[in-house]
Amino acid sequence: MAKTYKLALLGGDGTGPEVAAESKKVLDVTAQRFGFKLDWEAFDWGGARYLRTGEVLPESAAATLRGFDAILLGAIGHPDVKPGILEKGILLRLRFELQQYINLRPIKLYPGVFTPIKDKGPEHIDFVVVRENNEGLYTGSGGFLKRGTPEEVAIQTAIQSRAGCDRCLKFAFELARRRDRNKTLTLVGKTNVLTYEFDLWERAFNEMGASYPDIQRDYNHVDAACMWFVKNPEWYDVIVTNNIFGDIITDLGAMIQGGMGIAAGGNLNPEGVSMYEPIGGSAPKYTGKNVINPLAAIGAGALLLEHSLSQSEAASAIERAIVKATSERLPSMAAGKMGMGTTEVGDLIAQFVADGI
Ligand code: IPM
Ligand code: MN
Repeated sequence: MAKTYKLALLGGDGTGPEVAAESKKVLDVTAQRFGFKLDWEAFDWGGARYLRTGEVLPESAAATLRGFDAILLGAIGHPDVKPGILEKGILLRLRFELQQYINLRPIKLYPGVFTPIKDKGPEHIDFVVVRENNEGLYTGSGGFLKRGTPEEVAIQTAIQSRAGCDRCLKFAFELARRRDRNKTLTLVGKTNVLTYEFDLWERAFNEMGASYPDIQRDYNHVDAACMWFVKNPEWYDVIVTNNIFGDIITDLGAMIQGGMGIAAGGNLNPEGVSMYEPIGGSAPKYTGKNVINPLAAIGAGALLLEHSLSQSEAASAIERAIVKATSERLPSMAAGKMGMGTTEVGDLIAQFVADGI
């Protein structure tokens, strides 16, 4: 009997449901071709439900999601909800409660995709950022003193544990080994200023590195890394960094790989349930217009197959279909400029996969 996987579909807000639907379409066709089954359950968590019910996320959400093999997320963020409520209450809460301690963000320029970096092509831009996803400045630790007075002080504390470094570093070293490219792992930090947090990261990095003699270790300050992303992206293979730096440098990374229309990521708990998402936002102004690019969400689906279902061949089939589409069919990755609509892009990729490309 065909193997069946249970998947949770969180469309979310804005264009999230549209791109998630295209990713689901492609995954269903891929499953059929590779002989497995996908059993989907959809959840309406997001801004609209919050405005209707006053509840951001049911208490039982994480427990419910633990019953699935993986989660596909569209986007979280609603123009009528104050910034922070949905991001913290849904996205960050799920990342934390499900202990998705890795945020995996491949920065790969596909053939035919425009990069703003002159004279760089797909052979120069192909690396992966492993962002720590559960700690650092994201823990919400801090507070105000003398709030509302002229002497007001705000404190926001980065909390980084050794165990948190170690589990992230282990994943990154293993990934560098598996990729078998330059076999280089670069720690991106700020050892010259963040002398506590990055002292810890650096010690953990070097100590663990001793057990990976085949992997070369490199270190960049985060500001310098921003420079090299633009000037010499080909230097990178796997990068490991903390939560906030990972957040920032992967938006830069998304731009050099062709923009939010194509950038996919995964929130991974290698021992539990992982959640995959296009890294762009909910793009409310494009909602319901059939113009948003679903390739990032479709790419997130490929990551899901590879990292949660161990269906690597099926994941590669989707990636090949994306490459065919970017190199032969889509003039641009930008919303409204793809030469076809959101659903047509989904149909095209699904057709390519079904055709065995
Ligand atoms: C991301 C987003 C989130 C983050 C926001 C929406 C909380 O920017 O996934 O990169 O900062 O992690
Ligand atoms: Mn971000």
